[in-house]
Amino acid sequence: MRLNAGAHLDLTHAFARRLADRGRGGIVLVSALGASAGIPNMAHEAGSKAYVDALGTALHHELGPVGVRVLVMRPGNVDTPIIEAFGLDRGDLPLRPISAAAAVRETLGALARGRVVHVPDRRMRLLARLLPTALAVRVNGRMLGRAAAARAAAA
Ligand SMILES: NC(=O)c1ccc[n+]([C@@H]2O[C@H](COP(=O)([O-])OP(=O)(O)OC[C@H]3O[C@@H](n4cnc5c(N)ncnc54)[C@H](OP(=O)(O)O)[C@@H]3O)[C@@H](O)[C@H]2O)c1
Repeated sequence: MRLNAGAHLDLTHAFARRLADRGRGGIVLVSALGASAGIPNMAHEAGSKAYVDALGTALHHELGPVGVRVLVMRPGNVDTPIIEAFGLDRGDLPLRPISAAAAVRETLGALARGRVVHVPDRRMRLLARLLPTALAVRVNGRMLGRAAAARAAAA
């Protein structure tokens, strides 16, 4: 909670005040796709990301009028070391991950357009729109459960 929620709050608090005094600027908070619905086998982390989601969405509306743009990035499919860290099998992923550079480029574009939330990767946005929430929760939970079991077996 200190890292995933507290650090986001502290950093936002520190920078938002300065940006608001200046009358312009942007803040991107990183949450996670599906976090607000809950992610089995990642229950605590998903909860902390849901906090970031709510914090960023509220601040988008609070700070917009003073010239500060706030956007919540909800990654779900970005190629970073986190895939290996979670023990996920790349073959298990529903889509080939996009590069971190592409995700950042897209996200900064969305920030410049004044969007409140951005899910990197057009295919992921489509999937998120088409997949019923209850099914997405089960699919994510199964994938992370398999990864946790593989990590435990390897330990
Ligand atoms: N990649 C995705 O598809 C995806 C999906 C959902 C959510 N996210 C979220 O996106 C954010 C960025 O992750 P990423 O994908 O870029 O993974 P990443 O490349 O593994 O980056 C994670 C970063 O967090 C730092 N970190 C980890 N534990 C820390 C701690 N206790 N104190 C301070 N720093 C710590 C790591 O620092 P070190 O390198 O020094 O360890 C690393 O720089 C994370 O919040 C992640 O949950 C990513």
